[in-house]
Amino acid sequence: MPRIPTLVDNVEANQSREIFWDKDVYDLELERIFARSWLFLGHESLLPKPGDFITTYMAEDKVILSHQQDGSFRAFINSCTHRGNQICHADSGNAKAFVCNYHGWVFGQDGSLVDVPLETRCYHGQLDKEQLGAKHVRVETYKGFIFGCGDADAPGLEEYLGEFRWYLDTIWEGAGGGLELLGPPMKSILACNWKVPTENFVGDGYHVGWTHAGALLGIGGELAGLAGNRADIPFEDLGYQFTTRHGHGFGVINNAAAAIHVKRDGWAKYLADTRAEVGRKFGPEREELYVGHWNCSIFPSCSFLYGTNTFKVWHPRGPHEIEVWTYTMVPRDADAETKNSIQREASRSFGTAGTLESDDGENMSSATHVNRGTITRDGRIDSSMGVGFEGPHPIFPGIVGSSFIGETSHRGFYRFWKEMLDAPDWKTVKANDDTWDSIFTNRDYW
Ligand code: FES
Ligand code: FE
Repeated sequence: MPRIPTLVDNVEANQSREIFWDKDVYDLELERIFARSWLFLGHESLLPKPGDFITTYMAEDKVILSHQQDGSFRAFINSCTHRGNQICHADSGNAKAFVCNYHGWVFGQDGSLVDVPLETRCYHGQLDKEQLGAKHVRVETYKGFIFGCGDADAPGLEEYLGEFRWYLDTIWEGAGGGLELLGPPMKSILACNWKVPTENFVGDGYHVGWTHAGALLGIGGELAGLAGNRADIPFEDLGYQFTTRHGHGFGVINNAAAAIHVKRDGWAKYLADTRAEVGRKFGPEREELYVGHWNCSIFPSCSFLYGTNTFKVWHPRGPHEIEVWTYTMVPRDADAETKNSIQREASRSFGTAGTLESDDGENMSSATHVNRGTITRDGRIDSSMGVGFEGPHPIFPGIVGSSFIGETSHRGFYRFWKEMLDAPDWKTVKANDDTWDSIFTNRDYW
């Protein structure tokens, strides 16, 4: 793969267009990013009882996530160790065991091989069932969110989330009740490279007032002022962007967590009722974040909008296509009607047929497929907005960009993306721990 080093050079403030099109780059991403990162698998609320399972993906790998009798969660590759058939075809359920429908091998809830038809007669005592369990991946949970990792040398999930947990705790723990996800997920296919929606969610506050202008005017309220990206918007007061060590980042619009919610006695009331407790637990800065609207990506391919409360996984399907899975994120301790109203608003805006979802989808497809052209592809695209107007902050961890409308967290995402593609192993990644933020050169900005 001789061309890749030049394609991934200097990716922070501009990127080769080929990284959105090239099959060799995609193959390297599967190997060095997806097989080595912690990937979102599910939430405890989606499989609450022992025996409950869901089937999902880690990039292109099919996996079964299964709730064990001891309360823990295990995940294993959804492919039979006999002749490779997919073991489980259901999306979810409760099962004592998983039976392969090719020749009938039986795998337990933990993925071990427990029964083989005609074993004594046909294998003559030569089959070592212990060696033929389904292949496991690591599973760890943070505040109810379950992640899997295919690399034994990767740091644990808490270290992988790193300083980003300081932010996540504000909403994943909140006033104490935490969050849950409502499933099953809506599923759709989008003709785009997986990085396009990830970078959009990690920090593209710029498109909000333009791509979604019509929807924002329709919604009214706090967000209508953004429509049309007008110069009279008070940019300094709008919010910030954040990026952290492992590429996770987000942008926040201040005081807009309930902005798209027409019904004011549901989510808006829940936030009003709980914000003081969040302030007591986490301090005034995080209380402000708690009532802001977040667009966020957890590296590499899991994104959510807190406030709108849509939660997405971008499963890659080759360099030019993704499968989008969409859940709704709700407070665990909210009443049923509040949860319902949050889900209705999330579906209306960012469900598969949501008004704002379709605004974004066309751009994501276009930004990928335009690179089909050879002359087009021989060029770079820009993410330099706000370079220098960002730096380490006295309170907020990571690097903080001065405005919600900027590309600080894009640069943070591509910085780590490049680091993962370059690094032969996690030891090499860890060697950069102390210098990870050196691309953000303005140490005195805040
Ligand atoms: Fe599964 Fe043969 S492939 S039992
Ligand atoms: Fe959008």
